[in-house]
Amino acid sequence: MPMGKEHLFCRHYLLLFSFLIIMCLLQSGFGSYQDEQSPVNDYHHPQYQPHDHKGLVMVMRRFSRAHPPQPSPRIVNVDRYGAKANGRDDSQAFKKAWRAACLASNGAVLVVPRNKIYHLKPLIFSGPCKSTLTFKIYGTIKAWVKQSEYRERRHWLRFDNVHNLRVTGGGIINGNGRKWWLNSCKINKKLVCLIKNAVTFYECSNLIVSNIWFQNSQKMHISFQSCLYVKALNLVVTAPENSPNTDGIHVTGTRNICLIRTGIELGDDCISIVSGSKNVRATGITCGPGHGISIGSLGADNSEAYVSNVEVTNSKLTGTTNGVRIKTWQQGGSGFAKNIIFHNIEMKNVTNPIIIDQNYCDQDDPCPQQASAVKVSNVLYRNIKGTSASKVAINFDCSETVPCQGILLQDVAIASKHEEPTKASCANVILDTRGDVFPYCFNN
Ligand SMILES: *[C@@H]1O[C@H](CO)[C@@H](O)[C@H](O)[C@H]1NC(C)=O
Repeated sequence: MPMGKEHLFCRHYLLLFSFLIIMCLLQSGFGSYQDEQSPVNDYHHPQYQPHDHKGLVMVMRRFSRAHPPQPSPRIVNVDRYGAKANGRDDSQAFKKAWRAACLASNGAVLVVPRNKIYHLKPLIFSGPCKSTLTFKIYGTIKAWVKQSEYRERRHWLRFDNVHNLRVTGGGIINGNGRKWWLNSCKINKKLVCLIKNAVTFYECSNLIVSNIWFQNSQKMHISFQSCLYVKALNLVVTAPENSPNTDGIHVTGTRNICLIRTGIELGDDCISIVSGSKNVRATGITCGPGHGISIGSLGADNSEAYVSNVEVTNSKLTGTTNGVRIKTWQQGGSGFAKNIIFHNIEMKNVTNPIIIDQNYCDQDDPCPQQASAVKVSNVLYRNIKGTSASKVAINFDCSETVPCQGILLQDVAIASKHEEPTKASCANVILDTRGDVFPYCFNN
């Protein structure tokens, strides 16, 4: 890369960085208002018992703060609306409680008491609400297991068009997914694909999701769909390693979102970022087992896809099938994935630590090579260290017709778990390096 261009390239990232950092700071500001109110002093945060995910639960530590005087928000306890937590369906009580909280004009706190397990059928929590709303989950919310209750619904819990919402409390949202996994079309090809996401936020804005343990989702655990200004932090997301399609956090059509200090162990992508997403920052993520952190897949069924300004930093992946991946479908599509930074990432025994796969084909019929593709450009990999479980630690498998451009590797060192050194495989990529980079493709 000539000097002038290189300068521009770096400056571009500096700008992007400042933007993302300012964005996260602004959001912390807007987020603190509810923290400081802390209107439910008489409730305590549950103590987590020792369990398999001890390390992950460390991230759920929370601080309490004093609260300044202001009009007190309405406290709506689901138990007062008839929730029993006795193994029967509590959906109606939650529906009524939500309605009451949503109509409150000085803010509301919807309380799900601790040490209890509430079972819910598919539910939509609709907005917009009259004022700010905090959903305090201290106890456990568990999905109704009978699949016939879901019918054509694509979701279990869905927050629709809610603004200034905070979901927090230190409790558990359990998708009760085992039955869904057994009936997954991914595993049994004869079955229809009817699996559901656990929690979807749809067209929400100014949203904070924090201090919740998401478990055993039917499909994706948390999906942010067409949302604006989102902060998700101190979450724990767990499902078995062999559970199909149980993505951790799915970001689609969402702009200005920060994912912070979250531990994820499950059977699919820890984080997946797909079309329409812009200004996405993930930091302090631990991932594994799972399929890693993915941008894509993009361009399925010849669709247009646009993803830009993504930063993944200060994260650690252990034993995952992919590390940081960008994947676009082989059978065409258009649009772009650009301005992406992966930096300060530690990989341990990751099968494909760094991968761009533009020949992705996840269907029974072969995907024919097409002339069009989603264009991948301006991707920086910086300070990425660790070990690869496979020989090919860096794999750029880009489109022949739309090559990857502006790919920069800086201070990358990925060793092999085995005796032979790791390799890089590079096809149709315009690539540059800074600092020490290993492995590197010399044929490029
Ligand atoms: C490393 O990863 C491979 C492939 O996923 C797995 O078979 C192996 O057990 C892992 N090794 C360690 C030490 O975790």
